[in-house]
Amino acid sequence: MNVDKPKIKTQRVYSRKRCRESLRIHLTPARRRGELTCSQRRRLSYSMDDTVQYCSDSEDLFGDYDSILEDSSLLAKLDDAEQHERQRVVLPSPQNDAKDQRGFTVLQPPRDITKKKSHSTSLSDSIFDKTFEELPSSQLLFQERVQEKVKRVRLQGGDQTSTPVRNEFTEDKTRKRRSVADQLKRTMVCNAAAPSSVSRSVTLKEAVVSEEISVAMQAMENVSSETVDLGPFFGLPTKVKDLMDKLRGIKSLYDWQETCLNLECVQHRKNLIYSLPTSGGKTLVAEILILRELLCRKKDCLFVLPYISLVQEKVRGLASFGLELDFMVEEYAGSKGKFPPLKRRNKASLYIATIEKAHSLVNSLIETSRIENLGLVVVDELHMLGDGSRGALIEMILAKVLYMSNNTQIVGMSATLGNVQDLQMFLKAENYTNDFRPVQLKEFVKLSDTIYEVDPKEEDGFRFSRHFNFKYSSSMRKMDPDHIIALVTEVIPTHSCLVFCPTKKNCENVAAMICKYLKEEFLHHRREEKGVLLRELKESGNGSVCPVLRTTVPYGLAYHHSGLTSEERKLVEEAYSNGVLCLLTCTSTLAAGINLPARRVILRSPYVATDFLKRSQYKQMVGRAGRAGIDTVGESVLIIQDKDRNMVKSLVCAPMEICNSNLMHDDGKGLLLLILSLIGLNITTTLDQVKSFLSGTLLFVQQKQLCVEKSLWDVVQQCVDTLKDKHLITVESHSDGQTLQVTMLGRATYKGSVDLTYSNLLYSDLSKGLDGLLLNSCLHLAYLVTPYDMISQCNPDWMTYFRQFTLLSAAEQKMSAAVGVPESFVARKVAGQTVKKSVNMDVVRRMYLALVLVALLKETNLWSVANRFQLSRGFVQTLLSSSSAFCSCVLHFTEELEEFWPFKALLTVLMRRLSYCVKAELIPLMEVAGVMESRAKQLYNAGYKTLTHLANADPAVLSRTIENLYRKQATQIVASAKMLVNEKAAALQEEVDELLMVPLDLPSPLKTHR
Ligand SMILES: Nc1ncnc2c1ncn2[C@@H]1O[C@H](COP(=O)(O)OP(=O)(O)OP(=O)(O)O)[C@@H](O)[C@H]1O
Ligand SMILES: [Mg+2]
Repeated sequence: MNVDKPKIKTQRVYSRKRCRESLRIHLTPARRRGELTCSQRRRLSYSMDDTVQYCSDSEDLFGDYDSILEDSSLLAKLDDAEQHERQRVVLPSPQNDAKDQRGFTVLQPPRDITKKKSHSTSLSDSIFDKTFEELPSSQLLFQERVQEKVKRVRLQGGDQTSTPVRNEFTEDKTRKRRSVADQLKRTMVCNAAAPSSVSRSVTLKEAVVSEEISVAMQAMENVSSETVDLGPFFGLPTKVKDLMDKLRGIKSLYDWQETCLNLECVQHRKNLIYSLPTSGGKTLVAEILILRELLCRKKDCLFVLPYISLVQEKVRGLASFGLELDFMVEEYAGSKGKFPPLKRRNKASLYIATIEKAHSLVNSLIETSRIENLGLVVVDELHMLGDGSRGALIEMILAKVLYMSNNTQIVGMSATLGNVQDLQMFLKAENYTNDFRPVQLKEFVKLSDTIYEVDPKEEDGFRFSRHFNFKYSSSMRKMDPDHIIALVTEVIPTHSCLVFCPTKKNCENVAAMICKYLKEEFLHHRREEKGVLLRELKESGNGSVCPVLRTTVPYGLAYHHSGLTSEERKLVEEAYSNGVLCLLTCTSTLAAGINLPARRVILRSPYVATDFLKRSQYKQMVGRAGRAGIDTVGESVLIIQDKDRNMVKSLVCAPMEICNSNLMHDDGKGLLLLILSLIGLNITTTLDQVKSFLSGTLLFVQQKQLCVEKSLWDVVQQCVDTLKDKHLITVESHSDGQTLQVTMLGRATYKGSVDLTYSNLLYSDLSKGLDGLLLNSCLHLAYLVTPYDMISQCNPDWMTYFRQFTLLSAAEQKMSAAVGVPESFVARKVAGQTVKKSVNMDVVRRMYLALVLVALLKETNLWSVANRFQLSRGFVQTLLSSSSAFCSCVLHFTEELEEFWPFKALLTVLMRRLSYCVKAELIPLMEVAGVMESRAKQLYNAGYKTLTHLANADPAVLSRTIENLYRKQATQIVASAKMLVNEKAAALQEEVDELLMVPLDLPSPLKTHR
């Protein structure tokens, strides 16, 4: 990498500043509490390493700088400062302030620097280093103050969040409120800066330092603010390269990754879409760009991923990088994440978020005018723009960022798309494409006894590969007409295999069927580890194991679909990743959700349920074949019937999928929500502004295809009318047009991300709740946070309903009748009698789900609750997680509406209980990304009872102590726990600083007298 001299100097000045800054945040609590030893703190955080040497203020202040001690005026000034502090005369008059500044406080490097610019370049590197080494520590402080200025100049106009310093004036005031030690330190620093009070040699040294700073300043001005370079690894320190090797085993980049990172548009932070086949290594490029933004430009980044599990995996994977490189990693998934995010003074933050959370996060940053501080937004699986309501949300996020921030770079990664030009136009982005795949993928289809290789060049798309000779008994042929057993036993147990099935039930059946015909040898393969897995499954089910898994796991097989609890799923995934399980039968969700590659991927049929596969689904599934670094080749086999032959041909050979805007999806719900939030956030207050905003959407780019019946502007007008009819906005007409304003209900709706279809209903349900909220049980509250969109999936078993109903207290039954579910109705239903009175079935079903939630909250045992209510445990788990997410929405909704104030406290507690439906003592451990109930129990029983226990744990000891916890997992758990502890400590520190800061509008003493 070509790094010129000024750049090097920039880097040095900067890194000293960083090290000093980072220690400040940890210093205060340690000094005050005094109970943590330095070594304990060192273990807590990488950034704390340096803290130790600065711990003692006295050492740092006096050092060997004799001339300061000789200065008699200093003592007078110290006295003065002390006096000042006691009397708390905080604000001097402007004149006094100016005097103060002339005397001690404010240095004026920018002005000095401009003067010295002309001869600054003549200084060499060696002088620079030497000077710093010889300078006393107080001089370094001086140096830092100047650098702080330098940094602020650099971040001018963009960074509003990095520090609580509001302006020079406030900064001064704030400092006056600090400790006497700080006053002392400040005075020393200033004295050191005052040429009259130091020796000639020191003066000379200072001059050199000033020169150095001016060089740095000039370098910063010369180097575009977009390309500040910190080191040789794509602009990053070599340490990043080492970490990639140590933590990921990645020693060098693939050629395409290198080319992509060196693209001119990437160097200039232009928006970028890059598309490659699955397993091409797309994530690494995004991560390097993120690190560059965090470390070199000190800006926050947002990484958007489509599933909670992926967010948690990324948080775990990047926490170690955050600790080593001194940035925050914050999880925005499920009920986690703070809006707006905490302002971090000294560290940049990486927000890793699901699509829904990313949307709320961007809204909150716009609302608090902090969007410019977001340096980079990365969207993984960008083609999901075409995926229903979630696609609409991605489009909203990106359109808002594009419209509101000139400086935020957008990077999208995707599998290859047919209409990438549309996306490029929308995002004003460059495109990079490559068909690289580290492991070659061979695609086959199997039609009766013959296997064909997919070859688009052939006339009918297939080329004969081999006949399939496998000796099947007649009973076997009957059980397995598609030869799945033969296909899988060609690879397992030595290699891994995924079998995609069209339905959940089919997954279970296929897994059980294969086991029936496997030889006994399979039982011996990694027998002990499979035993451990079964034990863990049993623990996670509080003593119950799914009977199918109990049969298949000893053979190294399992099924994987949404009917499993998330804990079971995680255990199965980990066991498969580690080779304990060699085969998973799964539904299509596995292909998109997690990174579980296999040597051979078998598609049991070209259908998902009754729908023929889409090309993107097919590509996702077969893309799992071939583990980079493990397999030399990956194969996929699609089993087809003759009737599907032609459809299959177009499936495997057709051009790439098209990705369309989804703002119009589901009766234009996305567009309605977008316009509502634009008005709510004050981005647009007139129809013309709405139109101007919408000109920057993908929908606008594709309006010709998508707005056939009505023009886009007619649709927009219609949306405005609908929002007005729903009382979500008001439209005020005046001479020069109309003004659009959000109503309180509208604000609550978009802030709570409540589906517009339900906002009025939610409002009326909550209002009724206020009239007679039942508080001696949580049934009423649980009912209010049961998501409306899960009602349709519930078919109550009337007998169970009645039995549960009779167990309710009189007050609960009364409440149930009040919302619309009287006992008589349920009794009639169970007796099979007709019900004459009209009863709203949605309310009845919702109450049934609320009963399930209450049972869960009471027992925390998912399995027994699922059994009792005749529901699958996967469904019960989904109900739980959706309810906790909806609870967070309702909470935000109520916060915006004055009359709902009592709900705030109640819902805050309920949300926490729903998010971690476990015993209270396990909750702190489960806050760590990816730690689930049974793991938390193991940790707790082993003595790791709190977050700080985990943060201070030795990963090696942890993995030895906890059964079936691999070293890598232990390392990730410890890193995530450290990150969380740091995050919490920093939040508290921010609060302290905020509390001690003098308010900007504090009336001055002078004004008061007058
Ligand atoms: N330069 C590299 N050297 C070795 N391994 C790499 C390199 N880059 C990425 N990998 C590994 O390749 C695997 C696949 O990478 P990644 O998940 O980024 O693929 P992807 O392109 O995002 O695929 P998908 O479309 O399936 O999400 C990962 O395990 C990753 O660690
Ligand atoms: Mg990927």
